Amino acid sequence: MNKYVIHGGKPIYGEVTISGAKNAAAAIIPAALLVDGVCRIENIPNISDAALLMKILKALGADIRLVNKNTVDIDCSGLSYKEVPYELMRKIRASYYFLGSMLGRYGKARASMPGGCNFGVRPIDQHIKGFNALGARVEVKSGIIHADTQEHGIKGNHVYLDIASVGATINIMLAAVLGEGRTVIENAAKEPHIVDVANFLNSMGADIKGAGTSLIKIDGVSGLHGGFYSIIPDQIEAGTYVAAVAGTGGEILIKNVIPKHLECITAKFQEMGIYIEERGDAVLVGRDKPLKNANVKTMFYPGFPTDMQPQITAVLCQAEGTSIITEEVYKDSNRFKYVEELKKMGAHIHVDGRIAIVQGVEKLTGAPVKACDLRAGAAMVIAGLCAQGRTDIEDIYHIERGYENIVSKLRGLGASIARVKVSSPDEGVLREVLA
Ligand code: EPU
Repeated sequence: MNKYVIHGGKPIYGEVTISGAKNAAAAIIPAALLVDGVCRIENIPNISDAALLMKILKALGADIRLVNKNTVDIDCSGLSYKEVPYELMRKIRASYYFLGSMLGRYGKARASMPGGCNFGVRPIDQHIKGFNALGARVEVKSGIIHADTQEHGIKGNHVYLDIASVGATINIMLAAVLGEGRTVIENAAKEPHIVDVANFLNSMGADIKGAGTSLIKIDGVSGLHGGFYSIIPDQIEAGTYVAAVAGTGGEILIKNVIPKHLECITAKFQEMGIYIEERGDAVLVGRDKPLKNANVKTMFYPGFPTDMQPQITAVLCQAEGTSIITEEVYKDSNRFKYVEELKKMGAHIHVDGRIAIVQGVEKLTGAPVKACDLRAGAAMVIAGLCAQGRTDIEDIYHIERGYENIVSKLRGLGASIARVKVSSPDEGVLREVLA
């Protein structure tokens, strides 16, 4: 077991380079199953979620070769149907994309209900509605999802999503690309990674139009060929570094970003008094005055992303006055579990359902805390960087699911953060015996 130890309370300066988008990679790796040929994928983030998805793909028979730490060649030619290993699938939410890609490739799929960040109810009814519309019968028995087109294959159809779900939009695209005829997704999600998955599939020969708008049209093709693709930079990772410098003060250049994708995040930080300058594929971000309070409502893209909600809350803990944060994406879930951890550091926050009221304090104080999930963990890192004194963060495996080299990137900005081994009581006893 490892933890992060942070000595906070000082501004950060320097340059940081953003990695490939986790949530695009999370769909593109399973999407490679649809391709008959070698796809070279560049800019894959070196994070445990991507590694786990590649492990699943390998278990399905793919030949995967590491070209360098962020580039892989994946060859799924000539594979035949295998079941997704349940124990791997349970570990990660994005494993549900194998349902779409297997339905697309084999006309059937069987998998366990997906795992992932545990912040409450995360149904997949819209995915199932989409698969049904494309001619698959879907049943969930004892936590196992069975989807089957009964050898009729996928047939294009109209699907109207009740919620603009990222996962359902991508899963329907994956199932439909090799299907017969046209599939139309209405009320589709518009996040940048939806466009990236569509661009990946199109560059391998698919015919998808309209990704990035709420109406996506997919005309089925008879096969996908190998090719080359580079994943977009991670909007949320970049936003997390914006939040870090907003909290600590200082000035950093965030490189390898698509500034347009950041606008939904940076607009809110500008309101809080942060300056942001676009510099081609980089942004210069800094703070030279006290933080102002702000009200934040999470929304589907291009609204403020729910995946930045914990990080901005950590920053607002030190802003002047009162801020109100409303969670509008995960309406039925508790994405405020981390608030109890921030309170240990002296934050004044009151949570009522999906609203958090933050009363700014002058300083946070370092404390032992834990990462409740991926973005909550990022919020604890930010709070630790801002706080006076020492913060120890446990359960950092959540953070490392989605942030490549967060420790060395922050150290490069002058932060005092280290990843240290926590010795368990058993190790302690062994050490004593062997000493
Ligand atoms: N929803 C349903 N039914 C469905 C699907 C979704 O009710 O069939 C609801 C969800 O419960 C939630 C809302 O719709 O309230 C949005 O869910 P969505 O399907 O868009 O989310 P997701 O695909 O499960 C992805 C990201 C999440 C990110 C959300 C929202 C991946 C692997 N995960 O999840 O990322 O929070 O979109 O943008 O792409 C993260 O990176 O930390 C993370 C949790």
